Amino acid sequence: MNPAPIAVAVVGAAGRLGQFACRVFEGDPRWRLVARYERGERWPDELRASGAQIAFEATRAGLGFEHGRQILAAGVRPLIATSGVSVDEVGELDRLARERQLGGLVVPNFSVGAWLLLRAAELAAAHFEQVELLEAHHPRKADAPSGTALECARRIARARAESGAAPFGAQPSAAARGDVRDGIAIHALRLPGVYARQEAHFASAGELFVLRHEMNGPEAFGPGIVLAALHCARCSGVGLGLDGVFAARA
Ligand SMILES: NC(=O)c1ccc[n+]([C@@H]2O[C@H](COP(=O)([O-])OP(=O)(O)OC[C@H]3O[C@@H](n4cnc5c(N)ncnc54)[C@H](OP(=O)(O)O)[C@@H]3O)[C@@H](O)[C@H]2O)c1
Repeated sequence: MNPAPIAVAVVGAAGRLGQFACRVFEGDPRWRLVARYERGERWPDELRASGAQIAFEATRAGLGFEHGRQILAAGVRPLIATSGVSVDEVGELDRLARERQLGGLVVPNFSVGAWLLLRAAELAAAHFEQVELLEAHHPRKADAPSGTALECARRIARARAESGAAPFGAQPSAAARGDVRDGIAIHALRLPGVYARQEAHFASAGELFVLRHEMNGPEAFGPGIVLAALHCARCSGVGLGLDGVFAARA
């Protein structure tokens, strides 16, 4: 007998990602979409009574942490897609979830290909003299640099430090040469005709090693949304990214 479907609510259901997530959950018998919330609705008050076990949150950059707190306060597991939740904020959500014996996940990018780029960048971090990141998105994207680019810089810097290699060389001071995060320059483009692109350019004398991931539409988020939501339904505490999802499946 198939297990009972997992009840899920979508917060930000009228947005681009929210609409796509609703289609993913509606089209799969493992899920029961019990509520769709848009802006202006009193969703934090209604969520508890909705019967949702998971709330998929995709609203406006910067709101993810507060919404995560509200979802946990309603006794529901948050799956936060919204950009801009800091590592410290994930730690606070983790503490709140454990207090309530709940779990959840903050996933800045659901694309499995983008996750593989992050892992490959960690591997490359120790082996080159320099690195710069480039991300490109559609002009409607509000935040820059993207959450994925910031996460990529954080992971490269951490892997570099752990390897014992010397820090990367001097970073640019002119704005046109990128915004420096975790000691790594990030260049952000906002262009029509682009959906989402992430590149990591590693270089040493005589060689250039480029990692590039390109998405042309939200379909690429589908498999990662399903894997993350399945993980979210049973995990303890709140994790960041897809690492814990794949570690649990290994
Ligand atoms: N994790 C990932 O893989 C991934 C992928 C794509 C996007 N994102 C992130 O997900 C977020 C949403 O992206 P999007 O492209 O779907 O943006 P979007 O099309 O602008 O959709 C956001 C939706 O959330 C609504 N909203 C705003 N504040 C709200 C609130 N307090 N309560 C409920 N709904 C609220 C907005 O309503 P109004 O239009 O009325 O303001 C809009 O319908 C962004 O932060 C984006 O960077 C993450």
